[in-house]
Amino acid sequence: MVETRLIDGKAAAQALRARVAAAAAALKAQHAIVPGLAAVLVGADPSSEIYVRGKAKATRAAGLDSVEHRLPAAAGEAELLRLVAALNADPAVDGILVQLPLPAQIDPHRVIEAIDPAKDVDGFHPQNVGRLWSGGRAMVPCTPYGCLMLLRQTLGSLTGAEAVVLGRSNIVGKPMAALLLAENCSVGLAHSKSRDLPAIARRADILVAAVGRPELVRGGWIKPGATVIDVGVNRLPGADGKSRLVGDVAFAEAQGVAGAITPVPGGVGPMTIACLLRNTLIAACRRRGIAEPAL
Ligand code: GUN
Repeated sequence: MVETRLIDGKAAAQALRARVAAAAAALKAQHAIVPGLAAVLVGADPSSEIYVRGKAKATRAAGLDSVEHRLPAAAGEAELLRLVAALNADPAVDGILVQLPLPAQIDPHRVIEAIDPAKDVDGFHPQNVGRLWSGGRAMVPCTPYGCLMLLRQTLGSLTGAEAVVLGRSNIVGKPMAALLLAENCSVGLAHSKSRDLPAIARRADILVAAVGRPELVRGGWIKPGATVIDVGVNRLPGADGKSRLVGDVAFAEAQGVAGAITPVPGGVGPMTIACLLRNTLIAACRRRGIAEPAL
């Protein structure tokens, strides 16, 4: 039996938020700048509402400015593109985040491509995606960057490790693979159509689960001693009629097998928001040619 360590994402996120807050205070004192984040929510998807509210609260708590823009669920693409153009042109806005998913009548690619890449704090614009893969100075997507910070904190150097990412989304899986490659890992990117997911997962020294399927990854999928990062946030009906949050990994089964694992909740989730604040501060510095603080 391996003793499984818990990776405390809550504590790591708190520390990162404190570093961002200190950097924001210095920016204000030295340059009279308060970085601003604009979040755009179309419609009223309940989990998107929770995310956007959480983001706004954390942004203000770190001493950054936060503005929320809401459009009705029936809003057209042209209306959203007009709002994005206004935010691109607004000097008080350093970061623009359009919450996904968008309603079916709006093409998310058209919207993402309309965002000024310098203000693209999600790192979803093709210019940032390209720079991430080619090793340039990109805005990096928040959730995978948060995972990377937790991995570095747990393992130190990742060089030479076998890393497997389960899930190929643009938000997590693909950028996670790019980041692990840049850290000198051998990287596998597997997904729902992969022929033998358990066998692929078992190769991994570093296993990142980002498929959105509750408890898909069983104990037997994990190489003994592996570091497991669980990006999943899934609601399952609980015994008492209330729902309970579970990840993409069967957490109890991973105990005694994984070397270290992130819990759900309290693992990756808090890091995502902290990294968004980090990106907003970095965007504010880069846009003005100010040296960016190490965060
Ligand atoms: N929906 C789920 N995760 C994200 C995210 O990181 N950014 C945006 N904009 N939408 C999301």
